[in-house]
Amino acid sequence: MKITVLKDSDRVARALARRITDALREQPDLVLGLATGRTPVDAYAQLRRMHQEDDGDWSRASTFNLDEFAGIDASHPGSFRQFMQHHLFEGVNLDPSRIHFLNGAAADLDAECDRYEEAIHQAGGIDLQVLGIGSNGHIGFNEPGDELLARTHRVRLQPSTRRDNAPLFGDDPSHVPAEALSMGIGTILRARRIVLVATGAKKADCIARTVNGRIATRVPASVLQVHPDVEILLDRAAAVRVGRT
Ligand code: F6R
Repeated sequence: MKITVLKDSDRVARALARRITDALREQPDLVLGLATGRTPVDAYAQLRRMHQEDDGDWSRASTFNLDEFAGIDASHPGSFRQFMQHHLFEGVNLDPSRIHFLNGAAADLDAECDRYEEAIHQAGGIDLQVLGIGSNGHIGFNEPGDELLARTHRVRLQPSTRRDNAPLFGDDPSHVPAEALSMGIGTILRARRIVLVATGAKKADCIARTVNGRIATRVPASVLQVHPDVEILLDRAAAVRVGRT
């Protein structure tokens, strides 16, 4: 794993945006895996600014987001689809037909997960996957537990994850859907390149366990240790425990 520590969260956002625009320049038909959550929001704002300044042509790129809530459709204001629309998609020249999302309102959610795996495969696989990390070590919605699932699957969200997502649902965790759909650990590990971003002191512990610790299903992000091309972009606050056990 390559660990890059930057002075503050603003520099992390700029570095992530730069990684993405460089990849788009090198490979205009890039297949990009994207995350929601608070951490990448400033990088997405930076990408919209860069696009306005003619830096970043998204016209041939495709995107696959990591996860979506179950039981709500893409037009729901709390959906990750709306989140991405607002924070990134409406500010860049992505072809809407190349934006891929799990449909949390599908009648058969297991079939929807299979469809998504197949769509990623048909697109040639993910070239660059952006990840955040939950303070419990989750990536996507792959929550800590006794086992991890390889393929895209349904997930019952942990209370802490529902609390973390409450701002999307009127600050009321009970309004956050109890279930979600998420790329699996195998889906994520098949990405050719991964960049994980984490900022702030609240992420210091899960980052230390991800990079210093043993590979454990209780720390889902620790599986990234086996991937050949992972960069972890951190601000100083999130990096304070890296290298210490
Ligand atoms: C979101 C996702 C999650 C978040 C994680 C961190 O698509 O997959 O794993 O990346 O929960 O969220 P923030 O950035 O809000 O701390």
